[in-house]
Amino acid sequence: MLDAVCPDRPAHLLAHDWGSVQTWHAVTDERLRGRVASFTSVSGPCLDHVGHWFRTGLRSPSQWGAVLKQALHSTYVGFFQLPVVPELTIRSGLLARILRSSDPEEPAPSTSDAVHGLNLYRANMTRRLSRPAERYADVPVQVLAPARDAYVTPPMHTRVERWAPDLRVRHISGGHWVPRAAPERIARAAAELVDHVEGGRQARSLKRARVAPRPVGRFGGRLALVTGAASGIGRATALAFADEGADVVLADVAPLGPVAEEVRARGAEVFTHTVDVSDAEAMAAFAARVAAESGVPDIVVNNAGIGMAGSIVDTTLADWERVVDVNLWGVIHGSRLFARQLVELGEGGHIVNVSSMSAYLPNTVLPAYSTTKAAVLHLTECLRAELAGAGVGVSAVCPGVVRTAIAATTTFSGADATAQEAKRRESDRMFARRNFPPERVAADILRAVERDRPVVRPSVEAKVVGAAARFTPSLLRAAARRI
Ligand SMILES: NC(=O)c1ccc[n+]([C@@H]2O[C@H](COP(=O)([O-])OP(=O)(O)OC[C@H]3O[C@@H](n4cnc5c(N)ncnc54)[C@H](O)[C@@H]3O)[C@@H](O)[C@H]2O)c1
Repeated sequence: MLDAVCPDRPAHLLAHDWGSVQTWHAVTDERLRGRVASFTSVSGPCLDHVGHWFRTGLRSPSQWGAVLKQALHSTYVGFFQLPVVPELTIRSGLLARILRSSDPEEPAPSTSDAVHGLNLYRANMTRRLSRPAERYADVPVQVLAPARDAYVTPPMHTRVERWAPDLRVRHISGGHWVPRAAPERIARAAAELVDHVEGGRQARSLKRARVAPRPVGRFGGRLALVTGAASGIGRATALAFADEGADVVLADVAPLGPVAEEVRARGAEVFTHTVDVSDAEAMAAFAARVAAESGVPDIVVNNAGIGMAGSIVDTTLADWERVVDVNLWGVIHGSRLFARQLVELGEGGHIVNVSSMSAYLPNTVLPAYSTTKAAVLHLTECLRAELAGAGVGVSAVCPGVVRTAIAATTTFSGADATAQEAKRRESDRMFARRNFPPERVAADILRAVERDRPVVRPSVEAKVVGAAARFTPSLLRAAARRI
């Protein structure tokens, strides 16, 4: 067939289900050496690799859970080995009804196809699984693993780097029939591999999917975007991601040259964008530019923020608007724009919104600031619920007092220029005395992404305030009158 459709050059193969099982055998067969340029496999593992996977898994207690889960998902394979009964189940329409009830995307199989298909299971399964051969693919391989696959669980067909050293694994949203439900997702992934193998630029998703022969950090190949990255927590977070192998998109209104240099010095690729997070149009253009230039980011940290102090009545309307625009609208823009990109890509991802301990703490010192941070916390909780089904994680980070430039740039509404300077110096000294470094917040942000934590409170005071808000809110209310 290869000679008929692609006689003059190696062909790129894309296959699903049993088509993919058979294609694995083709690409690991000596006779086709040099005839295949790449292979994208969807929900159809090599049966010999499966045999090895089960054997290794049974020997390793840490993998028993995964093996048992797959065995439960494969019970139908045992049923298909029975004589006559499976044929009757298919011809009576019972099988189609059972399949549809477990997955609405399940196509109704043609009766004759299904009956003939039984032979595939009977002829191959027992032999391949009980005496698996060593089969190696020497072409670029990409495995697309749908998260909700009812038949092929991801560990069984993604842990194949031993057999396919030039491997990419992409976890995509959808079930076993995702090629029918969202064909564009499969087509895009396959086209990206083809383009790259043919000498084109490596798409971000492809780079992220590469299973590296040696570890490249906890976030190797991923792209982390950080707003407010020129200073403080944003800068520390960008550097922490770069230290763990990620490439980084930096955004700020302030100059980004020095941080970009520090990121580059860690061997990471860096993209810089001057953007005001409170500007809806600028943020939309920024998100589109990021997707086009560097690919959809895997991790988005909406960190940019400003300080605002002064009582509710003394805070001028302009100051109220400014703090809401930057601290709340900035996070809304970042969340909406990048959540849409991540959901459309369908390959997971994570959004982190930087709130504050003050979200929990009624007070008379920073009421406008605290109001925006409480709104950010709630927005983040809602977004987490909304994106759970798409496999996109969302976390809120609520730091306490962190030694950054924020105190020195905070607006003290209602204070004249001299008083403003004095208050800034005084708060800056207090932040320096507390001496909690932004790097510790950054470390918690990375952990929140890895462990998909809903809320993290990096410092002791943040933990205490979070606990008090939960268990003794009246104490916080009483204290608020004194703060
Ligand atoms: N430092 C703390 O004690 C503390 C505590 C809790 C929460 N936070 C939050 O952490 C985040 C980072 O603050 P930080 O302490 O690192 O302060 P920082 O002043 O050191 O850094 C904030 C960065 O955000 C940028 N920025 C400000 N407005 C922007 C805008 N409109 N568009 C784009 N970038 C903008 C600034 O230029 C700066 O680089 C903020 O959201 C802040 O509210 C800080």
